[in-house]
Amino acid sequence: MLEHGGNLQHACIAYQRPLEAWLDLSTGISPYTYPVPAIAAELWHRLPIENDALLDTARRYYQQEHLLAVAGSQAAIQALPHARPHSRVLVLGPAYAEHAHAWRKHGHAVIERDNLPEAAELGDIDVLVVCNPNNPTGRLCSPAQLRTWQQALAPGGWLIVDEAFMDATPEHSISTQAAKPGLIVLRSLGKFFGLAGARVGMVLAAPELLGQLREWLGPWTLSGPARQIATAAMADSDWQRAQRGRLQQDMHKMNAMLQAAGIAPTGSTALFSYWQDPRAAALHAHLAQDGIWTRLFAQPSAIRLGLPPPEDWDRLQQALLAWGQQKAGVSG
Ligand SMILES: Cc1ncc(COP(=O)(O)O)c(C=O)c1O
Repeated sequence: MLEHGGNLQHACIAYQRPLEAWLDLSTGISPYTYPVPAIAAELWHRLPIENDALLDTARRYYQQEHLLAVAGSQAAIQALPHARPHSRVLVLGPAYAEHAHAWRKHGHAVIERDNLPEAAELGDIDVLVVCNPNNPTGRLCSPAQLRTWQQALAPGGWLIVDEAFMDATPEHSISTQAAKPGLIVLRSLGKFFGLAGARVGMVLAAPELLGQLREWLGPWTLSGPARQIATAAMADSDWQRAQRGRLQQDMHKMNAMLQAAGIAPTGSTALFSYWQDPRAAALHAHLAQDGIWTRLFAQPSAIRLGLPPPEDWDRLQQALLAWGQQKAGVSG
């Protein structure tokens, strides 16, 4: 199993601090969770039904007719490698590690590279995986760039665009184009909606591939309660608008706070900030001493910080100021 953010048990042991004493900034999950509606009692009792309002609501939300609901986009990441014969797969990194892991596990030939490829380099690539915006670097590729890459792939090639962090900036999404053969878009309700525990994701792709995935995943991939919650969240455009505003404002504040502590973020999305720097491990340890858990990356040396809930901004600010003062003291 790969290591991920949200591994607080590890923090508890390493720093001898109980679970409830941590501020967890190690994921990119929104601190504002969609207010989950009361679950109708019969949803616990009967098997999930597929002709509820979920898919039509999702079609409106993603502006795409062809989609499949899955138990988190992770389920699709694991299923997709089964739907192709042996392939040459390029993952643009450093990215969510489950993509490369899933393709490798299924015997495909996987290359990972950080710098963006020229279209001419893609002629012998069967599958290109791009997280957009990228987790953890925040890099955003334009729809035009993605189209150029897709057209340059080997015949029958797939471009997989993981848009798990796209909901705050839907104007950059290519969800409307995903019914074209060879383009697969993955979405998640875990990040922007703060519903990671509900395990709801969507695959947007051509109907034939969706049929294959559906067959592979089998019936009842989503529980009835998860379907009800996801339907409510995707239908609630007022909440989504307010959420975009809140996250944008908070990320602005976060980046300003980091700058004030002498940390110039290398990248960010609406849900996390990323700093690639040799001092990343030192900052991670400094924050952990104060009970603030972040995601540390070894290669390249980098740290990712998610947004705190409103009541914990002061705590983060104090820890960052102390870091800034320490560093100023060292260099002064
Ligand atoms: C880029 C990216 N894609 C997909 C996932 C999987 O998310 P979920 O299975 O909760 O939809 C994650 C989780 O961290 C992620 O960071």
